[in-house]
Amino acid sequence: MMDKVRLVIIGVGNIGTLHLENVLSGKLSGVELVGLCDTNPEKLTRVKEKLTDSCKYYSTDEEVFMDEEVDAVIIATPHYAHPVLAIEALKAGKHVLVEKPAGVYTKKVREMIEVGNQNPQLTLSLMYNQRMNPMYQKARELVQNGEIGELRRTNWIITNWYRSQSYYNSGGWRATWKGEGGGVLLNQDPHQLDLWQWIAGMPSRIFSFAYYGKRRDVEVETEVTAYVEYENGATGLFVTTTTETPGTNRFEIVGSKGKIVIEEEQLKFWQTRVDEAEWNETYSGGFGEPEVWEIKIPVQFDGDSGHLKITQNFINNILFDEELVSPASDGILGLSISNAIHLSSWTDNWVSLPIDEDLFLSELNKRIAASNEKDTEERVLDTKNTY
Ligand SMILES: NC(=O)c1ccc[n+]([C@@H]2O[C@H](COP(=O)([O-])OP(=O)(O)OC[C@H]3O[C@@H](n4cnc5c(N)ncnc54)[C@H](O)[C@@H]3O)[C@@H](O)[C@H]2O)c1
Repeated sequence: MMDKVRLVIIGVGNIGTLHLENVLSGKLSGVELVGLCDTNPEKLTRVKEKLTDSCKYYSTDEEVFMDEEVDAVIIATPHYAHPVLAIEALKAGKHVLVEKPAGVYTKKVREMIEVGNQNPQLTLSLMYNQRMNPMYQKARELVQNGEIGELRRTNWIITNWYRSQSYYNSGGWRATWKGEGGGVLLNQDPHQLDLWQWIAGMPSRIFSFAYYGKRRDVEVETEVTAYVEYENGATGLFVTTTTETPGTNRFEIVGSKGKIVIEEEQLKFWQTRVDEAEWNETYSGGFGEPEVWEIKIPVQFDGDSGHLKITQNFINNILFDEELVSPASDGILGLSISNAIHLSSWTDNWVSLPIDEDLFLSELNKRIAASNEKDTEERVLDTKNTY
C-alpha cells in the first residue's frame, strides 16, 4: 500500500503558490511534493529557492501525466483547463484535486465526472475549501435534521468579494469570455453557489439580472441579482458584486420552524416552538406571532484553513478511503446554478434546472468569439486577504 502520495501542483500562480506553501508547511501528512508544473517558466523560477534540488519542474502537463513517479495532481490553472486537465490526468492514472470552479460549462464537467466514474480507483476531488468552515457545516446539519422545518426562503447577499481594476488587469485571461468564461459568478462565487445548494438544495428555476462590465473595464458580469424558486414553493435571492465596499456576506435560510443567519463569522439560529403552518391553522387572536427561541449553536473553529483540510481529505481518501468532503461530482451543482444565472440574463427569461447545456454552450461560444484576451503583464498576487 502507498504510504505517501507523490504530488505535483499544476499552475503555480496565486493559488498554486498557496498550495505549494501548504505542502511545504509540514501541516499535511501522507504527501510528498514531487514537482511543479507551469506553462509560464517565470512562475517556476519565482519559487525555486523555496524548494529542494530533488523537485522536478515541468513545462507541459503531458510531462506530468507521463511521469510514473507522480500519483496525484492539484490543478490550479485558469478555469477552462480544470476539467480538460482532470480528464487527461485521470486517463493517465493520476488522482486529481481540481481547483474551483469545476469548469466553465456543465457539459465539460459532466464529461470529467464520467471519466472519474470510469476510474473509481482514482480520487477526484474539488477545492471547495469553504465546506470545511464549521458554520456552514452546522447550518447544513440544522437544515438536514429538520430543525428549520420546511424550507421557505434563502437569501444570500455576497458583495464582499471586492476586486479593483488592477486585480482584473493582473492576468490576460481574467474577466474575459475567452480566458475565464465568466466574472463574479465563476471566479469568486463558486464557493457560495456551492454552499447555497449544499445547505438548502438545488432550485428548480431561476430568473436573473446580470450587468456586464459595470464599473470595471471587463467583458464579464460584475453585478448580479438572481431570483430562484425551489420545487416545494420556497424562493430565494442571490445578490453579488465585486465593486461594492464595504461589502456584505449574509446568508439567511428561513424555514417554517426556524431561521439561520450566517454573517460576520457568526451563525445565529432561531426556532419557533410550533411550526408556523400549524400555529397559523389554530391561532385565532388576530395580531400575534408564534413564540420564538434564540438558540446558541456551538461552532468550533480551529486555526487551520479550509484549503489545508480539503487537501488532507484528498490525500486521506487516496491513502485510506476517508470519505471525500467535496467530491468533484458535486462541482456540477453550483456550476449549473451559475450557468443558469448567465443563461437567464442572456435570454432575458426563466431558466429551469437542469439547464439546456447545448444552448448554454452555444451562447457562451458567441461571447467567446467576440472576446479579447487582454495583453497585460501577468502578476502573482498575495491571496492572504481573501478567503
Ligand atoms: N479555492 C480558492 O479559494 C481559490 C482562490 C483563488 C483562485 N482559485 C482558483 O484557482 C485557479 C487559478 O487562479 P489564480 O488566481 O491562481 O490564477 P493565476 O493566473 O495566478 O495562476 C494560474 C497559473 O496557471 C498557469 N497555467 C495556465 N495554463 C496552464 C497549463 N495548461 N498547465 C500548467 N500551468 C498553466 C499560469 O501560467 C499561471 O501561473 C482559478 O480557477 C481560480 O478560480 C481558487
